[in-house]
Amino acid sequence: MLKIKLRTGSGAYPVYLGRGILDKLGVLALSRLPACPLLVVSDGNVAPLYGANCLESLRRAGFKAELAVLEGGEKDKSFATALTLYTSALEAGLDRHTAIVALGGGVVGDLAGFVAATYLRGIPYIQVPTTLLAMVDSSIGGKVAVNHPLGKNLIGAFYQPSLVAGDTATLETLPPREFNAGLAELVKYGVIWEQKLFIHLESLLSRSSGAPLAAVLLRARGAWLPWLIARAVAIKGEIVCRDEREKDLRRILNFGHTFGHALEAATEYGYYLHGEAVACGMAMAARLAVLLKLLSPGEAQRIGRVLGRLQVPPPPRGLSREKVAAALYYDKKKEGEELIFILPVALGRVIACKGPPFPLVEQVLAEYLEGALL
Ligand code: NAD
Ligand code: GLY
Repeated sequence: MLKIKLRTGSGAYPVYLGRGILDKLGVLALSRLPACPLLVVSDGNVAPLYGANCLESLRRAGFKAELAVLEGGEKDKSFATALTLYTSALEAGLDRHTAIVALGGGVVGDLAGFVAATYLRGIPYIQVPTTLLAMVDSSIGGKVAVNHPLGKNLIGAFYQPSLVAGDTATLETLPPREFNAGLAELVKYGVIWEQKLFIHLESLLSRSSGAPLAAVLLRARGAWLPWLIARAVAIKGEIVCRDEREKDLRRILNFGHTFGHALEAATEYGYYLHGEAVACGMAMAARLAVLLKLLSPGEAQRIGRVLGRLQVPPPPRGLSREKVAAALYYDKKKEGEELIFILPVALGRVIACKGPPFPLVEQVLAEYLEGALL
């Protein structure tokens, strides 16, 4: 079991990673919280697989734990679902001396964290990520949110968990498409922060010769996967600890997200997985960087090739450039009317680019929608 300690401005907490951590969850939770009532929030796929194990581990340690199961999927990150959770918490009599446990992927984590941040003006919560994406990204750093029909994650807070406990054994049941979506966020860290990580992923993925990437990486789980996840947590942890509330540095974690969130919104959150939209967004950001002469075409090609291994679905038929362009304007990073794009200038280094010429942005959107980028 690996332990990484994060120290943010609003508090420090440990991240535990490893196989079999779910069995130890109760004991780990007890090191951070008194044996209080807990509401475990999960979804319809994860609860049948891991709900009982999670409840048992928590109850063994003395917690009084109850399970609330959501349907699952991005549509759950809504006010309506938050309301049902507030109701469950109120009906279960949860007071301020209780906590929430988010057992699942980024949807459960973001939503349950949002409910924890707002219920009775804030109660503690624990992240128990079960997707690759949640282990390497969403469970770390305290961004909690629900979506607004006009845009993603527009209503939320910075609210750090008391503990993160990721059981890597849970990744064995993750569908391959979900696994690949998590890999996209790993590629992100390589491009924004660590060339060595990018090169490592480039070499691992190029050796996969058509086999599902999940199978390749899980088969080699003794070696690569824990290292990759730990590296991602350490990188995200360092960025978040230096800039918890996204005043500056943390913006780089949004590489690929300006385009990616617009794709998700323009397709009503029903076509792409989040990581897939981010993969497309990263390819588009790399292309925009080339058009602005910030990045060499060779480096953009290497980024595109790695992302191309993730089997992202092609752009949906009928999606118009105008619709995606309009969705871009609901991005949280926008300053006045100026859009901000995080753009690579080398492998391992990005910059924030304010208000690039819009015709270039439109050119990139058109190239992507014609299938020329990924
Ligand atoms: P998700 O939570 O929808 O999980 C993906 C799917 O996998 C779901 O159907 C889920 O039921 C299923 N699943 C989860 N774990 C499983 C397992 N071990 N075995 C079998 N099935 C399993 O999606 P996600 O990709 O984990 O998260 C995406 C969300 O995370 C988006 O809403 C995104 O905005 C958010 N996000 C947040 C942050 C942050 O910093 N807060 C960062 C990145 C992404
Ligand atoms: N996923 C972006 C962030 O945590 O800041």
